[in-house]
Amino acid sequence: MKAITKHKYGGPEILGLEEVEKPNVKKNHLLIRVKANSANPADWHILRGKPFFARFAFGFFKPKYPILGSDFAGIVEEVGQGVTKFKVGDRVFGEMSGGGAFAEYTCAPENVCGLMPDESDYTEMACLPIAGLTALQALITHGKLKKGESVLINGSSGGVGHLAVQIAKAYGANVIAVCSSKNIDFVKSIGANKAIAYDKENIHLHKEKYDLIVDTNGNLNYADYKRMGKRGVMVGFTNMVHMISVLLKNGFGKFPLAQFTAEANNKDLNELSKLIIDGKLKPHIEKTYSYTETPEAIGYIESMRTRGKVAMSWDL
Ligand SMILES: NC(=O)c1ccc[n+]([C@@H]2O[C@H](COP(=O)([O-])OP(=O)(O)OC[C@H]3O[C@@H](n4cnc5c(N)ncnc54)[C@H](OP(=O)(O)O)[C@@H]3O)[C@@H](O)[C@H]2O)c1
Repeated sequence: MKAITKHKYGGPEILGLEEVEKPNVKKNHLLIRVKANSANPADWHILRGKPFFARFAFGFFKPKYPILGSDFAGIVEEVGQGVTKFKVGDRVFGEMSGGGAFAEYTCAPENVCGLMPDESDYTEMACLPIAGLTALQALITHGKLKKGESVLINGSSGGVGHLAVQIAKAYGANVIAVCSSKNIDFVKSIGANKAIAYDKENIHLHKEKYDLIVDTNGNLNYADYKRMGKRGVMVGFTNMVHMISVLLKNGFGKFPLAQFTAEANNKDLNELSKLIIDGKLKPHIEKTYSYTETPEAIGYIESMRTRGKVAMSWDL
């Protein structure tokens, strides 16, 4: 089968398109014929081996796993022993946290997969796993967002942010979206009640108070969370020094600030599917690349300027 591979750390230019062995289905796993993928910041972090501590998980001097990629959508071709939730022919989407998704076939544990809604398409559903789970878990699992509450989402136009805006609206929140001025109309079109352009107003001086602050960009200071929020969730990070400084201050402070790494599970993937079926969630795909253009897609996501998501199709 064809796969997007890496044998050393580096930028998108080191990625190869290679012929590799098709995986065998394992116990409690699904063998999936991949139809589409999407790109996430995690892909270029893993590709570059940055931040450095990530190499403890992904290989110190060179990558442990040759195939890149987390998010996928496709068709179940075989089910392993012990699989109870899926059958051959099911259309599924999910996340491979260790990599292995950017290939014609991937072998994924059944507990990191969800059933695709009947009418949905592969590129759309491939855009949901990491970004959608992160948005859902930031708002609901960690942010404890309730109907009628206000939430400020910093970094509201990117992969996680634009799904967070829609999910917060679906749960009945009043959404204040922070993005660059070029994306103001976009975030309003997907449901934000109010939008703040961070290149027109200094968010570090913004004085209004909200029930929850979700920072997908990761540039808010500890003082920003305390000034603007009653609770906070840190999702993204701009650099390690900034992140550690916020977490250290949080360790000594009393403000309820959560930081987490999103995890795939059947329940949350099914919740994302339900939001799609109910018409409350729709990923915005800025561009769909062919699988042969995966290095370009990763290079684009690395610019951190994506509006919504970028997808890669195995049918193009
Ligand atoms: N904790 C977790 O489990 C988890 C999971 C997934 C992702 N993440 C992290 O979350 C972050 C976002 O991921 P993503 O997939 O949404 O990335 P993305 O799709 O690349 O989006 C980046 C967004 O950042 C916005 N941005 C850039 N500078 C900004 C600023 N100064 N203030 C506010 N927004 C700004 C951009 O919007 P404009 O063009 O409008 O500026 C762009 O839409 C990344 O750091 C990623 O590593 C964490």
